Amino acid sequence: MEKYKLIGPIKQLLTMEKSKVKGAIKDDELLIIEQAGILIKNERILDVGSFSDLKEKAEALSAQIIELQGNYIGTPGFIDAHTHLCFSGTRARDYAMRNSGRSYLEIAEAGGGIWDTVTQTRKAEQYELCHGVIKRANTLLRQGITTIEVKSGYGLSVQEELKMLRAIKNANPRTEADLISTCLAGHMLPKDFDGDHKTYLDHISYTLFPILKEENLTNRIDAFIEKSAFTPEDIYPYFNKAKAMGFDITVHADQFSVGGSEVAVQVSAISADHLEASTANEIEMLAKSNVIAVALPGASIGLGCDFTPARKILDAGGALAIASDWNPGSAPMGDLLTQATIIGTFEKLSNAEVLAGITSRAAAALNLQDRGKLIPETLADFNLFQTDHYNEIFYHQGKLVPSQVWKRGDIVYTDHN
Ligand code: NIG
Ligand code: FE
Repeated sequence: MEKYKLIGPIKQLLTMEKSKVKGAIKDDELLIIEQAGILIKNERILDVGSFSDLKEKAEALSAQIIELQGNYIGTPGFIDAHTHLCFSGTRARDYAMRNSGRSYLEIAEAGGGIWDTVTQTRKAEQYELCHGVIKRANTLLRQGITTIEVKSGYGLSVQEELKMLRAIKNANPRTEADLISTCLAGHMLPKDFDGDHKTYLDHISYTLFPILKEENLTNRIDAFIEKSAFTPEDIYPYFNKAKAMGFDITVHADQFSVGGSEVAVQVSAISADHLEASTANEIEMLAKSNVIAVALPGASIGLGCDFTPARKILDAGGALAIASDWNPGSAPMGDLLTQATIIGTFEKLSNAEVLAGITSRAAAALNLQDRGKLIPETLADFNLFQTDHYNEIFYHQGKLVPSQVWKRGDIVYTDHN
């Protein structure tokens, strides 16, 4: 039997209906419905509009009517389009060494860096990784994040990458958040691999890719293009193979040096993420393409590096999403709204651009059309903040958390404070 619900009145509902994918957005371009209602059919939105108008329709459908008391602001459920939250162990020692002035090389020589997390993650059982993913996903869910991308990349062998991706797949039905997995076997050349970069990537693409398809573990392939990881020349054949098999491509690009964003544009990747080192040249290239630029302020905050040139990307006409990059090494905080508002202050992003970056544009960065906006047919994923103006959400820089989080038409979290 169909289940109908009407929720409202919501003082301001930010539907993101008119939010375009590319370019700058002014706050007054946000489409706001005042005293709004959200009419839900099962797990999707049937209609949004004025609460009083929708009430009649709801009654005709015998909908459950949930009348809110007090002032609420509604947003689409937030989407964290880039995380590495499947991992074991800690890199607190890296953090301390980095802040004491030790170099990347010194930290790696002391046993730190990505390889340290690979070693710790390989020691974990699949169920332990799964448990960690569920726990971290639920932490994000309470912050209003209803869709979370999760990468592998701390396994770096066929079996260990499979362990991570199976852990993520098993975690998905055990958290209310939707998990979108990505294979990042191209994170670095594993230290124990007997062969060069090209041999490793060939091995992964020939051995692992078919199993990803067979077991339906992911439809996304990522790689880290950087001096310490893989060169564009290494990666082109790898991405071309992935594309030929029907995978979507996403790239860790231009974090410390340029090169990655050009690859992203050339292979028509869905997104190019990081971009802290992008220059005018890369910004122009990205803006002319359909690649979504994903800023990762958590990595800038974690490493003490420059922010992604978000303002320049938007002003050049590019598409900008914002994600947390939650990982044990460069971005241990894992707090999307806090980080999105912080890059907003440094890069002078309008609240509308910040919101689009974690809703409609984040959905585009994951190639998902069924979320990120509150319009008929999209998933009924939304947040209700108990406050009287949407500016308050950004002004509190992540400290104002949603009073209610709704996922697929059901309330999944209520803040009782
Ligand atoms: O996105 N840049 C490469 N990968 C991660 C860091 C992973 C780690 O340090 O464990 C990132 O920042
Ligand atoms: Fe990352």
